[in-house]
Amino acid sequence: MSNLDLINKTILFVKEQLANAEGGHDWFHIQRVYKNALLIARGENCDETVVKLGALLHDIADSKFHAGDETVGPKVARKFLESEGVSETIISHVIQIIDNISFKGGKTEKTFSSIELDIVQDADRLDAIGAIGIARAFNYGGFKNRAMYDPQIAPNLHMSKEEYKKSQAPTINHFYEKLLLLKDKMNTQTGKEIAEQRHQYMQGFLAQFYAEWDGEL
Ligand code: ADP
Ligand code: NI
Repeated sequence: MSNLDLINKTILFVKEQLANAEGGHDWFHIQRVYKNALLIARGENCDETVVKLGALLHDIADSKFHAGDETVGPKVARKFLESEGVSETIISHVIQIIDNISFKGGKTEKTFSSIELDIVQDADRLDAIGAIGIARAFNYGGFKNRAMYDPQIAPNLHMSKEEYKKSQAPTINHFYEKLLLLKDKMNTQTGKEIAEQRHQYMQGFLAQFYAEWDGEL
C-alpha cells in the first residue's frame, strides 16, 4: 500500500473513531494538529509518515473519557496499524508518540525522545493556545459547568495532576496554570515562533477581559 493510501485510510479510521467525541478532542482538533505538524515538519529533518500517523492517532481514545485508562488509545492505534500491514518499526514509534505526547508528560518522566515526537507535541500544544486555545478552554469550562472568572479565586500553580483534575477553578485560572506556560515548553524553532505569537494574543485577550470585567472600556 502506498503511503498516501495509508494516510487516507488513517484519516477515515480516526474520523470514524471520533464520531461521538466531545468538542475539545473531535476530528477538527486532530485536523488542526495534523496541519500544524506538517507545517513544523517542513523545517525539520524527520520521517513525515511517522509525524502524520502520530498526529492523526494521538488522541484516538483520550483517557479522560475512558475512566482514566491510558492504555486504550495506544492499543486501538496498534491494532489499526497492524491491520494495515505497517512495519513494526513505524508502529512502535507512533505508539511511543501517543504514550508520551500529553502535557502530563511535563511532570512525569519522559521515557522516549525523537524529533517526530517533538513535532507532534508542539503541534498539539499550539492547539491549546491562541484564539483556538481560548475557545477550547471556555468550551471545556462550560462542559464542566465552571465559572469563567472569579476574582476571589487565585490560580494555583502547585497542584498535583489529581488535584488539577478535581479542581473546579474558573476557566481564567487555567490560563495561568497551563496555557501561558506552554510557549516555554515548545521543542522546535517553528513551534516556538508560532507559540510566541499565539501567547501574545492570549495576553491581549486577558487584558481586554479584565478591562471589560471592571467596566473600564
Ligand atoms: P491535550 O489534548 O493536549 O492532552 P487536555 O486533554 O488536557 O489537552 O485538554 C483539552 C483541551 O481542554 C485543551 O484546550 C485544554 O486547554 C482544555 N482544558 C483542559 N483542562 C482545562 C481546565 N481545567 N479549564 C479549561 N480548559 C481546560
Ligand atoms: Ni490533542
